Amino acid sequence: MKVKLLLLLHKAKYIDNENTLVIVMRISTEMAKAINDQISYEASSANAYISIGSWCERTGYDGSAAFFFEQAAEENGHMLKLIHYLNGVEAEAIIPAIEKPPGSFESLESTFQFGLKSEQTVTQAIYDLVDMAEKEKDRSTYSFLQWFVIEQIEEETLFHTILQKFDLLGRDKLAVYQIDQSLASVRSQAMSKQTGLKQPSTKHA
Ligand SMILES: [Fe+2]
Repeated sequence: MKVKLLLLLHKAKYIDNENTLVIVMRISTEMAKAINDQISYEASSANAYISIGSWCERTGYDGSAAFFFEQAAEENGHMLKLIHYLNGVEAEAIIPAIEKPPGSFESLESTFQFGLKSEQTVTQAIYDLVDMAEKEKDRSTYSFLQWFVIEQIEEETLFHTILQKFDLLGRDKLAVYQIDQSLASVRSQAMSKQTGLKQPSTKHA
């Protein structure tokens, strides 16, 4: 019984003197709210990428559609990672309602500009979370967030690399077709050039 009680305490759950299960949240209420906000950003990103993928698919950009659907799965993985963390520290992960994303785009290039802007916004939100963890001396959350810091560097680099293709190859129909065709595999190509912190085949959170 003593060992069992210690194990329960390790999980920040224990039975008090009145035989009530007590659950102790291991991060601050403010931090839990901020991470829940991040869950919302990740969910919105996933939704927006599905919408872009759908636009690409019906416009005939098959390579880009595959890219954005995979990107949406990535964002979904990020959301799940945050949900698991919150639940693991005895905070409550809240699954958010999501606003309707844009449904049509001016050009293929504009979808990647949208993606880059979205990633830059998420990066700033992650940095704000890191700052908050540092301020609160919340070492657990600080350590957890480092994965996201590296992830965001990779995501921004990926979108920059794709946008560079439009400058290099041009924006006429043939160039855009070639760029689209290259995008089905661009994610794995870009990731192989990274620092080796993550392998493409195991990238999903
Ligand atoms: Fe993300």
